[in-house]
Amino acid sequence: MRYDNITDIIGQTPLLRIDQAVHGLQNIDLYAKLELFNPFGSVKDRAAWSMTQPDMDNAVRRGSQIVELSSGNTAKALALIAGIHGLGFKSVSNRMRVPEIKELLLLLGAQIEELPGQTECLDPTNADDPLTQFHRALRQPGSEYLHTDQYYNERNVQAHATGTGPEIVEDLDGRAPDWFIACVGTAGSSTGVAGVLRAHNPDIEVVGLVAHKSDFIPGIRNIDEVHEVGLFDPAVYHSINAVTSDEAIDGMLVLARRSGILSGPTGGAAYFGALRHLRPIDERLTTRKSAVFIVCDRIESYLSYIRKRRPGLFGGAEQRNTVAALTDDEVRTATTIDVETAQRWMEEDGPLVIDLRSPFAYAALHIEGSINIVDELFEELLRNGLPFSKRRPLLLACPVGEKSAKYAALLTRLGHPDTRSLSGGIVAWRDAGAQLIRE
Ligand SMILES: Cc1ncc(COP(=O)(O)O)c(C=O)c1O
Repeated sequence: MRYDNITDIIGQTPLLRIDQAVHGLQNIDLYAKLELFNPFGSVKDRAAWSMTQPDMDNAVRRGSQIVELSSGNTAKALALIAGIHGLGFKSVSNRMRVPEIKELLLLLGAQIEELPGQTECLDPTNADDPLTQFHRALRQPGSEYLHTDQYYNERNVQAHATGTGPEIVEDLDGRAPDWFIACVGTAGSSTGVAGVLRAHNPDIEVVGLVAHKSDFIPGIRNIDEVHEVGLFDPAVYHSINAVTSDEAIDGMLVLARRSGILSGPTGGAAYFGALRHLRPIDERLTTRKSAVFIVCDRIESYLSYIRKRRPGLFGGAEQRNTVAALTDDEVRTATTIDVETAQRWMEEDGPLVIDLRSPFAYAALHIEGSINIVDELFEELLRNGLPFSKRRPLLLACPVGEKSAKYAALLTRLGHPDTRSLSGGIVAWRDAGAQLIRE
């Protein structure tokens, strides 16, 4: 196989049947669409190339910089595509949470701009999310940027409607499967593929997967965020199911250890979600059926993500004291207090107020006297036990009060006698008209 351009290698990925001895389904053939075989390593190579290709000549002539609001695979693919064409790439995101991808982007010469997100940003003179504002500026006519706009760009869907979907049908000898299971990030891949498969089999059942509430699986949305995506159309899916990061890692381990697939967490989530959905159906089947799920990318970029959640896999001690290890009961019974009660308590007992938002958001506006420890760092601190005296009460604050409730539960588990979470977070504090100061 000879090629002149690396972009010609995008697509035509293999469809691999998972061994029945691994998945255990009796009447369903389960196939993995191996998008990790794309040249830049993920399903997003298709979208990135589809979104840039039509404007590339113009961009090269003008020396435009390619810009995308992505901190993951789309950014990686775009940085490489930009480089091939002698252009620069800028990634704008509200938190780069996967260190390996951030480092790779820097290594590729990408410019990274991190901005606070809507719930974190509380400047009253600037009510809009800075990301949204940035987004708007990029859309202005005459912009010097080539903005690929993956959350709204139909070419993201098209890449899969003309590539990924037809490839699956071809590899199944002209038929579409009975089930299609895919994780939802921008919704581009699931929407594009589902449309093609449904045209071949109107009875196909499409299952979309997202991360569990407040949980984080890199590359996809969680159940609270999925409706905010421009390309997301609920009519595409029969159901949208949530997978925890722990379940995604379990699925990923089976794919890697038993099937030889070096899948990242979303491939693991898709495998886990597929089996959870199909097992009860499989028992009732009398005819042979088939199902396809997508393996979006590779495992290597997520070693620190996995280590943080499962240190035992790397020879370290299993961590009991993590947010992920909390039970629903522990979180439900964490002490939360409203703004008025918190203000009174601060006057009377002077708790240490810890703001768990990003440094950008904290610098913009915060509760006077509070200290800033971003949530990820806070979890690291708690890993080795209580880093605070038990004598001083603690008030935890985050954007909307969800994360702080979890950390209050964790501190209670660690033996701190009086940790409370600010109900509704800094947003509720602001809405109540309570004072916030700028650094
Ligand atoms: C690792 C990973 N898995 C899954 C997806 C979901 O793909 P889509 O954006 O097409 O919904 C993405 C998208 O960013 C991703 O990076």
